[in-house]
Amino acid sequence: MTNKTSIESVNPLYPTVCEVTKIIDETADVKTFHVTSTNGKPFTPMPGQLGMLSMVNVGEAMFSVTYQGEDHLEFAIKRVGMLTDALHEIEVGHKLAVRGPYGNGFPIDMMKGKDLLFIGGGIGLAPLRSLINYCVDNRDDFGKLHVVYGARTPGDLCFKDDLFEYWPKQKDFQVDVTVDKGDDEWKGNVGFVPAFLEKLNPSAEGKINITCGPPIMIKFVLQSLAKMGYNDEDIVTTLEMRMKCGVGKCGRCNIGSCYVCLDGPVFTLAQMNKMPNEY
Ligand code: FES
Repeated sequence: MTNKTSIESVNPLYPTVCEVTKIIDETADVKTFHVTSTNGKPFTPMPGQLGMLSMVNVGEAMFSVTYQGEDHLEFAIKRVGMLTDALHEIEVGHKLAVRGPYGNGFPIDMMKGKDLLFIGGGIGLAPLRSLINYCVDNRDDFGKLHVVYGARTPGDLCFKDDLFEYWPKQKDFQVDVTVDKGDDEWKGNVGFVPAFLEKLNPSAEGKINITCGPPIMIKFVLQSLAKMGYNDEDIVTTLEMRMKCGVGKCGRCNIGSCYVCLDGPVFTLAQMNKMPNEY
């Protein structure tokens, strides 16, 4: 539990100095960082919320919290530019400034009692993982859980312990994994996520879908979901990649009159259909 004062706990601009306590190599270009402050986790996010990580003399950027433990937060970060390159070079013990939480998070109340279908691609599993593990930790609040996940190659699959060990052991929990291109050892499905999804053809009956991944995957997954009978109100995704300052100041996230950081980043497809087609 965090011991923040009341002023700190309501101010997401207040940075907390945190130490990196563990670094996990997920893939060749994704690492998961565990961070904790002297008082425990720097803030307590809801699934789907984000935190701002700052590195002295390098910069700062926003990342989704992929998991929260009793005393730490986890961020899975893909190497895509100067800051993430620098983060990939740090070692356990490095200090970062962390602030948050930002964004609305996933609509937990709307999902309670329902079967949930999670569809992820690549690093897009990172925000979904926060929700999936929330469901596992509060198992009786949700119906059946089904994860459909894909990556380019077997080596690009993130969170392999969750995918192949932890989640399949949970009650009423199905995991299906595909890769675009297999290798000599891969015995699973080979093919893109939307085609794999249609092959699995999970029933839309009483189910909420939560999708996160590269825009091209989301585009075709949405078409597949429509074919399978999902309502736009029951399809949820996150536009977190557009978030920069997180507090409505920089103007980098707006789609029409909507500010992703203030109104989202989690939206239903029904809500997104009312926005200009810029996402
Ligand atoms: S992220 Fe800066 S205004 Fe929304």
